[in-house]
Amino acid sequence: MDLGIHGRRALVGGASSGLGRAVAERLAAEGCDVAVSARRADVLETVAAELRERHGVRAVALAADLADPAAPRTLAAAAVETLGGIDIVVLNAGGPPPVDPTATDPAGWAAAIQLLVTSPIELATALLPAMRERGWGRVVAILSYAVRQPIDELAYSNAGRSALVAWLKTASRAVAAEGVTVNGALPGRHATPRIEQLDRAAAERTGRSIEEVRAGHLATIPARRYGAPEEFASYVAWLCSEQAAYQNGTFTAVDGGLIAGLP
Ligand SMILES: NC(=O)c1ccc[n+]([C@@H]2O[C@H](COP(=O)([O-])OP(=O)(O)OC[C@H]3O[C@@H](n4cnc5c(N)ncnc54)[C@H](OP(=O)(O)O)[C@@H]3O)[C@@H](O)[C@H]2O)c1
Repeated sequence: MDLGIHGRRALVGGASSGLGRAVAERLAAEGCDVAVSARRADVLETVAAELRERHGVRAVALAADLADPAAPRTLAAAAVETLGGIDIVVLNAGGPPPVDPTATDPAGWAAAIQLLVTSPIELATALLPAMRERGWGRVVAILSYAVRQPIDELAYSNAGRSALVAWLKTASRAVAAEGVTVNGALPGRHATPRIEQLDRAAAERTGRSIEEVRAGHLATIPARRYGAPEEFASYVAWLCSEQAAYQNGTFTAVDGGLIAGLP
């Protein structure tokens, strides 16, 4: 299926690894020009070079640390300047560290809220006015199944992402009449460096092997496997597509059936 976004200009966060990288690849394969962002400039340069070579699109690396309150506005301006405008923004970066939910602290909350709430909102806010003026835009946030089913050891993430969902839903209603959609995709458990890191940390914390930790997770996933980043990226790319023009304010899981409750 041709997604109808050839020539659109996309800014993809967290694109040096995992889900963000897979999304950047998928959008480039659809003919989008792509600005890839994350902290590691060297890795991003490699990703951008691969996208140019494989798909013949413009691809640029824009390093930014979204833990820095000034970074979202600077990143948005750099992306607009480099690609001549941004039609699609994929809000994504790393997740906060695991924490005992009864032992959180103000510094931990401040860091999590900046990374998961304020920075993505700032980034989208900087890019939305031009999308609205042009009458076409796509904002897609990579969230987590935790907004439906909190993850025990990720209190910062559960709360931060839920706050972002509340803003996204509100914003989606404000911009829908102008050809701009705002949606979120909720990964379940996809095989990425982040999940590997979390499984390893759980193994160390509980004295189990990483295989035992994985087996425990697989038992909770009806598909009985972790998702591939490409499977998640296909859904995000569709949210960015022309065909998804009437899909707005939705937060859908791509999780192999992991969430046990009704949607
Ligand atoms: N994989 C899953 O199944 C799953 C499930 C639930 C939720 N999630 C969430 O989905 C998001 C992507 O996950 P992933 O599995 O793709 O993780 P990942 O492989 O660890 O990738 C995270 C990306 O974010 C970038 N990043 C980290 N901190 C950043 C910062 N302060 N500023 C800018 N960029 C930053 C990383 O690159 P640099 O190190 O170069 O900055 C990397 O490109 C995360 O928020 C994760 O918590 C994932």
